[in-house]
Amino acid sequence: MNCTCSKNNTEFYKDFELKNFNTLKISSKADLAFFVKDEAQLCSVFRMYKNAKTLGWGSNTLLSSKGVREPVIITRKMSEISQRCEIMEIEAGASAPKVALEAYNNSLSGFEFLIGIPSTLGGAVAMNAGAHEQTISDKLISVRVYDIKEDKIITLSKDELNFSYRNSLIKQNTDRYALISAKFQLEKRGKEEIKKRMDENTEFRKRVQPSLVMPNLGSVFKNPTLPDGQKLSAGMLVDKCGLKGFHVGNAGVWERHGNFVINYLNCTSSEYLQVLYKMYTSVKEKFNIELECEIMRIGEFSAQEDEIWRVIKKS
Ligand code: EPU
Repeated sequence: MNCTCSKNNTEFYKDFELKNFNTLKISSKADLAFFVKDEAQLCSVFRMYKNAKTLGWGSNTLLSSKGVREPVIITRKMSEISQRCEIMEIEAGASAPKVALEAYNNSLSGFEFLIGIPSTLGGAVAMNAGAHEQTISDKLISVRVYDIKEDKIITLSKDELNFSYRNSLIKQNTDRYALISAKFQLEKRGKEEIKKRMDENTEFRKRVQPSLVMPNLGSVFKNPTLPDGQKLSAGMLVDKCGLKGFHVGNAGVWERHGNFVINYLNCTSSEYLQVLYKMYTSVKEKFNIELECEIMRIGEFSAQEDEIWRVIKKS
C-alpha cells in the first residue's frame, strides 16, 4: 500500500517487502518503510520513531525473515554530492560506485576502491569499508549526523568517529547516530591514473568475489590478527576447513571463496546464520581462532538466531 505521510510529505509504505533492498535478497517485510529525500525528512521520521533503523543498499545488513517491526528509513534517495576544489561533501544515500565516478570525473583520487562496492556512502562510512589498501576513513574530514537521543544535528570529526578495521562509532551506535553526510579531502591526480586503479579494482572483484547475481553480503568475517601480529585471511581459514560449497538449505559458502555466503534461492535468515555458525565453529575447532562477524542485522530474530548472533559477534 502506498501512502504519503501528512507530516512532511515523506514517502512511506506499510508491510513493505525489502527483498530488493538488501544485496542478499532476503525476503523480509517491514511494518513501515520510509524513503527520505533530505535531512529534514530523515530527522522528522526519527522524531516520530526513535527506534527507526536506517538502510542504504543493505549490502552489509542481514534482514530477518520474520520481518522488521521497527520503522525502516531507506536513505538511497538522499544522495546529493557537492564538490569544491579537492573537497567533496556527500549525502548518506549516494551510491558508492557513483561517488567513485564523480571523483574520477573531477580528477580526484581517494575513492577508486568504491567503484565495485555495492553500498551507499552511509553504509561505507559506518562499516569503514575498505579494499586494495584504501578505506573510507583515509580521506574523511568530518560527518554530519542526526543525534537521535538529543534531537539535534551535530558534526563529528574523524578523530571522534573512532575508526578501526570495519568499525566506527556510528556502527557501534546505530540507535544514537544517523549519518546525514560526510566531507572528504581528496587529492588531485591524473584521470588516467585514477581510471587504471579503478579498472584494476573492478578486475579483482570480477575474478575473486561473487557478483550480485549471486546474492551475498560481502565478506562475512573480519580477517583475524593473531596475538603475534600475524594477519590471516578468514576466507583462507574457512577454505582450509573444507567448507566451500557447504550448504544449509538454500544458503551456502561460495564454491570459489570461503568468506562469502550466497543466497542460492530464497534462503532464510536462519539458514544464512546456520552457515555462519558452522564456519565459525569449524575455524575455532581446527585453528583455535575465533572469527568475528563483520555484518550487521535488522529485524525480529528467533531465539536460535539470537544465540548464533551472540556467538559470532563476540570477540
Ligand atoms: N584465500 C584462500 N581461500 C579462499 C579465500 C581466500 O586461500 O577461499 C586466500 C587468497 O588466495 C588470498 C588470501 O586468502 O591469498 C586473501 O584473500 P582475498 O585476496 O580474497 O582477500 P580477503 O582477505 O578475502 C579482503 C577484504 C575484502 C576486500 C579485499 C580486497 C576483509 C574481510 N575482506 O578480502 O573486503 O575487497 O580484501 O582488498 O577484510 C568486505 O569487507 O566485504 C570485502 C569484500
